[in-house]
Amino acid sequence: MKTLISTKPLGSVETPLLAVLVTQGSTAAIGPDVQRAVATGDYKGKKDETLLVYGSGKAQRILLVSVGKAGEITRSAVRRAAAIAAKRARSLGTTTFSLAVTKEARGSLGAAELTQVLIEGAAQGGWQFTELKKQPEDPKPDLESVELVIDPGDKTAAEVGRRVGDAIAAGYLFTRNLQMQPGNVCTPSYLAEEARKLATAHGFKATILDKAQIKKEGMGALLAVAQGSAEEPRFIVLEYAGGSGAPVALIGKGVTFDSGGISIKPASNMEDMKFDKSGATAVLGTFEVLGRLKPKINVVGLIPATENLPSGTAIKPGDVVKSHLGKTIEIINTDAEGRLILCDALSYARRFKPVAAIDAATLTGAVVIALGHHAIGMLGNDEGLLAEVRDAGERAGERCWPLPLWEEYRELLKSDVADVKNSGGRSAGTIAGAWFLREFVDSFPWVHLDIAGTAYLEGESASHAKGPTGIGVRLFTEFLLKRAGA
Ligand code: BES
Ligand code: MN
Ligand code: ZN
Repeated sequence: MKTLISTKPLGSVETPLLAVLVTQGSTAAIGPDVQRAVATGDYKGKKDETLLVYGSGKAQRILLVSVGKAGEITRSAVRRAAAIAAKRARSLGTTTFSLAVTKEARGSLGAAELTQVLIEGAAQGGWQFTELKKQPEDPKPDLESVELVIDPGDKTAAEVGRRVGDAIAAGYLFTRNLQMQPGNVCTPSYLAEEARKLATAHGFKATILDKAQIKKEGMGALLAVAQGSAEEPRFIVLEYAGGSGAPVALIGKGVTFDSGGISIKPASNMEDMKFDKSGATAVLGTFEVLGRLKPKINVVGLIPATENLPSGTAIKPGDVVKSHLGKTIEIINTDAEGRLILCDALSYARRFKPVAAIDAATLTGAVVIALGHHAIGMLGNDEGLLAEVRDAGERAGERCWPLPLWEEYRELLKSDVADVKNSGGRSAGTIAGAWFLREFVDSFPWVHLDIAGTAYLEGESASHAKGPTGIGVRLFTEFLLKRAGA
């Protein structure tokens, strides 16, 4: 998706669709056609409400999208309205549209962040995935470009925001497309190839461990999950060197398909478990952003990648395996595989002495019960880092909500035979998952993001298509840019 910046007056913008973000109650000043339509009183301008007007001016169509009341404008509200506009543009079948924001609808957003979130929103709303269909029914062209119409005085700042917005949009779309790939296409080795391509394109260091090297490294927990599958596991390490000092580690769960293993899942909706690699794809998308923006910071990305399948060679409940850290694990439930592969990644991370480590993982169904689809479950061992990540999530429109990691919950994972067990049963599932990971975090500040409820959506909304959300890319980027002092 290309972006352009224009400083033309609204009335002289020639476009198949001019989308204007407005606030509730101030919608009239956009030309006679819109004025006439608004005068009917049909359009109330409530948040998300749209009005399509076939104008007589230079713009073939004008679309009003309300960001809500003037006092309630946030980055998220503007991003969302831009997404609604782009989604409408795509369903109208235009390959390009223009996007403007009234003075009121902009709230207190500066020109740079305004431009950034408009582009993020356009990327969100314009997304479609048709590459695996030979004959898409009702085919619509991809959205090729968006023209942002801004005040001439905002041009310089808007260009700064556009650079960031374009990079985030690229990483985000990369992630969403990769999430969407089915399990027979996106295998662990496919993920590794994607990482290698990123490294080649942007000059990162890539280290990819195959099964033999994973074994040699002593990653017994990752190997245990992989042993039921004919597809070999991979352990992916990407290093971006843009600054000085110890790196931030980003760790992503890369289960390319989670059947549950011997503790097999019910058949209904099991196909969605191709999204169990969403943590990994978020890390990869973030590296795409890093490659484009080149911020002054060091970042290492760690991705344990495997399938989780049942077979004659698969792990069984009761099996005990030895992790990379050396702790032994009793496998109670083979469907609690995410924590098994992540614990070896967290242990591997020690060699980088990271200043901070953040993992993103579709780890527990319990987080969907606790928070639904509107918040990432957030847990960690460092209050400062937790606050920083939460802040980044607010800016990114990928909100995080804390759950406690109190000592009392540790009990859930006591095993009769091993140092720890991988499931504590049904109570406090998200906390138990995080506690398991904490057992393998050694001497660095760490935050765990449980994205099981936010990685994909089961239905469509005005601002978002059904399916993958690209969650994590915007949050990670906001976090890293702030750390880099950008
Ligand atoms: N990948 C699942 C979690 C998940 C659930 C992701 C729903 C997306 C949507 C994970 O591997 C899993 O199966 N977790 C188990 C853990 C339990 C066995 C302790 C769960 O949540 O049921
Ligand atoms: Mn599972
Ligand atoms: Zn899983």
